Amino acid sequence: MNARIVLLPGDGIGPEVVAEAVRVLERIGARFGHHWTLSSHDIGGAALRRHLPPLPDDTLAAAKSADAILLGAVGDPSFDALPPSRRPESALLAIRRELGVFANLRPARAWPGLEEAGPLKPSVLAGTDLVVVRELTGGLYYGEPRGYDSAAGTAVNTLRYTRPEVERVARVAFELARKRRKRLASVDKVNVLEVSRLWRDIVTEIGRSYPDVTLTHELVDSCAMRLAFAPASFDVVLTENMFGDILSDEAGAVCGSLGLLPSASLGNGPGLFEPVHGSAPDIAGQSKANPIGAIASVGMLLSDGLGLHEEGASVTAAIERTLASGVRTADIAGAGRPAASTTQFTDAVIAAI
Ligand code: IPM
Ligand code: MN
Repeated sequence: MNARIVLLPGDGIGPEVVAEAVRVLERIGARFGHHWTLSSHDIGGAALRRHLPPLPDDTLAAAKSADAILLGAVGDPSFDALPPSRRPESALLAIRRELGVFANLRPARAWPGLEEAGPLKPSVLAGTDLVVVRELTGGLYYGEPRGYDSAAGTAVNTLRYTRPEVERVARVAFELARKRRKRLASVDKVNVLEVSRLWRDIVTEIGRSYPDVTLTHELVDSCAMRLAFAPASFDVVLTENMFGDILSDEAGAVCGSLGLLPSASLGNGPGLFEPVHGSAPDIAGQSKANPIGAIASVGMLLSDGLGLHEEGASVTAAIERTLASGVRTADIAGAGRPAASTTQFTDAVIAAI
């Protein structure tokens, strides 16, 4: 295959983990006989530093005409004082919306060998293998009106969903559950929010076309608690944008590190693949970042973005073999244990492909 892949390294540890993920991509290309045409573009703080808008036109144009997009991280505290529409993060919201990637898949699992890395008892974490399906282009992140009136001391954001927005992401979640353990937990706050009533009604309706999938509904607060007490009890978790943002960070922590989580944002055009961790400015430039989130995002790019399932699976298997051999980055090494750098960890993954 000859695929055009757009790289958006972005801010903080984004460039480091994307550089490592690209080395893995090249190794897969060599091993399976694929050719990648790579081009790198500015986004977020990296664009602002060059006096460009957070999402420059040519970055968006390149992304739209790519076969898949690999993004590092967006966010830079030196731009924190800017209004929301000019902050680095606005680029992420804009590119998701422009690409129409409404379904964000965030798998979280207990990697073999990392049972001790997280805050939970290994016996509680054992067997955890879930996917958060987060609605990504609607809800509070985009609803109008929005605004901050500092003189009046008021601010407003709007939580709005429409039937088609809920239907399409629900279908993605049911299809995914069908390929997995056939359990879907839909998460809402129906005891307070009208939007959740709409969400629950529509998910229930769509569920009638998937009689083989067991659908449950759960309030977000109770879901957050179950995620900490019994993460292995989940298979697919379907939820709206904001709840999905929060629950996926919690899922990362439960599994040992947010650095472990990859994601795929899918719509009708090219998919956007990115680690769930942010720009982590505190450790940027020190080769301390865990590249697993980015490397596993390459795995998802291959399988979910390009339909190269064998190649995607070989990336996952290589991460597993690396962890099994005892190599650990600092976030998962455990106190006082030797830690590999971002590059050393990736070297081990590449050697295992
Ligand atoms: C994420 C991030 C983003 C989000 C931020 C950086 C805008 O936290 O991808 O989870 O909230 O969606
Ligand atoms: Mn987040």
